Amino acid sequence: MAAPGGHGAIGPFPPDVEDSDDAREEYDRLRRRVLRSMPYGLYVVGSRHGERRNGMTLNWATQLAFEPKLVGIGVERTAFTYELVRDGAVFSLNTIAREDRAIVRKFTKPVDVDPEARTLNGFGFRDGVTGAPILDLAVAYLDCEVRQEVTCGQHALFLGEVVDAAFQRDEETPLLRMEDTRMDYGG
Ligand SMILES: Cc1cc2nc3c(=O)[nH]c(=O)nc-3n(C[C@H](O)[C@H](O)[C@H](O)COP(=O)(O)O)c2cc1C
Repeated sequence: MAAPGGHGAIGPFPPDVEDSDDAREEYDRLRRRVLRSMPYGLYVVGSRHGERRNGMTLNWATQLAFEPKLVGIGVERTAFTYELVRDGAVFSLNTIAREDRAIVRKFTKPVDVDPEARTLNGFGFRDGVTGAPILDLAVAYLDCEVRQEVTCGQHALFLGEVVDAAFQRDEETPLLRMEDTRMDYGG
């Protein structure tokens, strides 16, 4: 499989990697495996601009500061979610119960929104404090206002300040993690 960008192995390369395409590609594959071995959670990000809403499966999420309470999400700049978060300047991060793992496959392309029934791809939602959609089935959510956008190659890192957060289900509910699925994203 070609590396993202389609130009073969992506540098930089450490000094012990031989000066050949094969060696560079081998290192590229190894580095991808190392990156994919990083443990991740798995979330649905809610986004909104005006009356347009979306939900997207995402694992590149982390807390970034105690004070203020900042969380970061890495979003493909070609994704509909990117456009909505950039223009709407808000997002919600929904944690998902392990037993609801099937949901992640339902949020990998722009969703069907039913504004009357208040569903995203058939999953009930309500609008949070920021206006971003929060899934009814989320175990917990962080509702965030975007404070900064950092371009990271084909992705953007959005830094959001948590303006509302709550559990909607039992706090002890086992949460979905990347390792609970056969999918990967990263490397
Ligand atoms: C398991 C899994 C994890 C994903 N993680 C991310 C992620 O962290 N960031 C991202 O931009 N896209 C991620 N994606 C891809 C998005 O879910 C989605 O396919 C794509 O970005 C288009 O989203 P859109 O509906 O906003 O256009 C992931 C997909 C899967 C299946």
